[in-house]
Amino acid sequence: MHDFEVVSNDKIADGIYSIVISAPKLATMLEPGQFVNIAVPGVSANLLRVPLSYAKADPEAGTVEIWYAVVGEGTRNLSLMEPGSTSNLLGPGGHGWRVPEGAGRALLVAGGIGVPPILGAATILSQMGVAFDVCLGAASASKIVGVDELCALGAESVSISTDDGTAGTCGFCTDPAAALLAKGGYDYVASCGPAPMMKKVAQAAADAGVYCEVSLERMMSCGFGACNTCNVETVDGMKGACMCGPVFDASKVVVF
Ligand SMILES: Cc1cc2nc3c(=O)[nH]c(=O)nc-3n(C[C@H](O)[C@H](O)[C@H](O)COP(=O)(O)OP(=O)(O)OC[C@H]3O[C@@H](n4cnc5c(N)ncnc54)[C@H](O)[C@@H]3O)c2cc1C
Ligand code: FES
Repeated sequence: MHDFEVVSNDKIADGIYSIVISAPKLATMLEPGQFVNIAVPGVSANLLRVPLSYAKADPEAGTVEIWYAVVGEGTRNLSLMEPGSTSNLLGPGGHGWRVPEGAGRALLVAGGIGVPPILGAATILSQMGVAFDVCLGAASASKIVGVDELCALGAESVSISTDDGTAGTCGFCTDPAAALLAKGGYDYVASCGPAPMMKKVAQAAADAGVYCEVSLERMMSCGFGACNTCNVETVDGMKGACMCGPVFDASKVVVF
C-alpha cells in the first residue's frame, strides 16, 4: 500500500481527467501495463477501490500520472480530489506488456480510455528501439487523448478514427488496424479498449499470424487475487485479471 498526495487533477478531454499523484516509491516500481487500485475518499462502498492503469511514471520526480474517464461514483469523486489532498492505493497490480525479444515492428490499437496502457506499450517499444504504428479510436474528436504523447514516443504513424467522423476517419479503428495487419510486416500487436474492439483486433492479428496482447478490463473488488470477481475465461481455464492480467496473450482469451 502506498500513501499519495494529489499534485494536480485536470480535465484533459470531454469527460476525461488527468490526475498526477506524488508517490515516490510507487513511481520507481510501476511497469508499463500494470495498474493501481485507488481508495477514493467519499465513496459510499469505501471498501471498493477504483482500478486504474497509469499513463506516465516519473521516478525522478516521484510522480505517477493517471488518465481516467468519469463514469460513476468512484471516478466522479476522484475528479473532485484537490491538489494537496491525500489517500492511499494498492499497487503495482498484475503484470504488464511482454514485447517479444527481437520484435521488428509493432502495431498498437487503442480505443477510448484504453490509451493509458497503450502509452505504456509505446514506452517499452521506444526503449527497445522497435518501430511502431498506432490506430486510435474515440467516440468523438472531443474525447481523443494521447496523440502528442504517442508521437513524442516515436510512433511512425497515428491513424485516428471517430465514431461520429469529427476527427480522422469516420468508423472504428479496427478497420485501419486490420488493413495494416493484412499488409504484413508486424510481429507484435498490443491493444486496449472496449471488449468487442479487442476481440476484432485479436482476430485480425491471428489471421495475420502476429502475436497479440490485450489489456482486459474486469470489475475488481480486492485487486490482489482474493475475491474471484475479476475472472477471465481462457483456453487454460478461469484466470484472475488482477494477478494473471490485466495483459493477456489474446490467443488464450475466450471471453474478452
Ligand atoms: C486493470 C484496469 C485498468 C483500468 N484502467 C483504467 C484507466 O486507465 N482509465 C479509466 O478511465 N478506466 C480504467 N479502468 C476502468 C475503471 O476501473 C472503471 O471505470 C471504474 O472502476 C469505474 O468506477 P466508478 O465507481 O466511477 O463507476 P461505477 O459506478 O462502479 O461503474 C460505472 C460503470 O462502469 C462499469 N465498471 C465499473 N468498474 C469497472 C471495471 N473495473 N471495469 C470495467 N467496467 C467497470 C460499471 O459496470 C458501470 O457500467 C480500468 C479497469 C481495470 C480493471
Ligand atoms: S480483484 Fe479480487 S481476485 Fe481479482
